[in-house]
Amino acid sequence: MQEIVIKQLTPADYEKIIELWERAGLLAKPRGRDSYRELIKQMEKNPKFFWGAEIEGRLVGVIVASSDGRKGHLNRIAVQARYRGQGIAKRLTLAAEDALRQEGIKVITLLVERDNIPSIQLAHKLGYVQHPDIIYFSKRDSEED
Ligand SMILES: CC(C)(COP(=O)(O)OP(=O)(O)OC[C@H]1O[C@@H](n2cnc3c(N)ncnc32)[C@H](O)[C@@H]1OP(=O)(O)O)[C@@H](O)C(=O)NCCC(=O)NCCS
Repeated sequence: MQEIVIKQLTPADYEKIIELWERAGLLAKPRGRDSYRELIKQMEKNPKFFWGAEIEGRLVGVIVASSDGRKGHLNRIAVQARYRGQGIAKRLTLAAEDALRQEGIKVITLLVERDNIPSIQLAHKLGYVQHPDIIYFSKRDSEED
């Protein structure tokens, strides 16, 4: 099996991150919060929150952690289709969790669409507790954000 390297992402990975998200069916917002400017700003503020998986130098997995100082959040995990089922998402999640814990975060949350069975199973597998009684609300300045 090819070696999987889990590494901290850098601004040089930007195009590959967006491409991976788009190919994995995740809605990237390249004109809003995923624009080069916005994403790199987030990365420079918290470089340890951006993790990738590489195989032979190619980016095959991504996760982005975020923190409001009170709780941590896991966002946009994606693994390239042909490399799924090898534990890459699990390793990326653990790397992001570690980075959040290093910042003193003790509660980590994530949002999953109801029909996304692989992600739901991944969350269960890694010990996340499901809250069917909670309704998620959000307010956006635009559809690009
Ligand atoms: C969700 C996703 C990131 C999982 O990546 P992955 O590298 O294949 O996951 P892993 O191999 O690390 O799997 C870890 C655990 O997750 C669960 N899991 C992963 N894929 C699964 C599937 N297709 N069906 C059921 N459970 C699954 C299993 O519990 C698995 O543990 P096990 O192999 O010991 O049973 C991948 O399917 C993906 O990129 N999906 C599209 C993007 C997406 O929906 N992202 C989530 C946005 S919230």
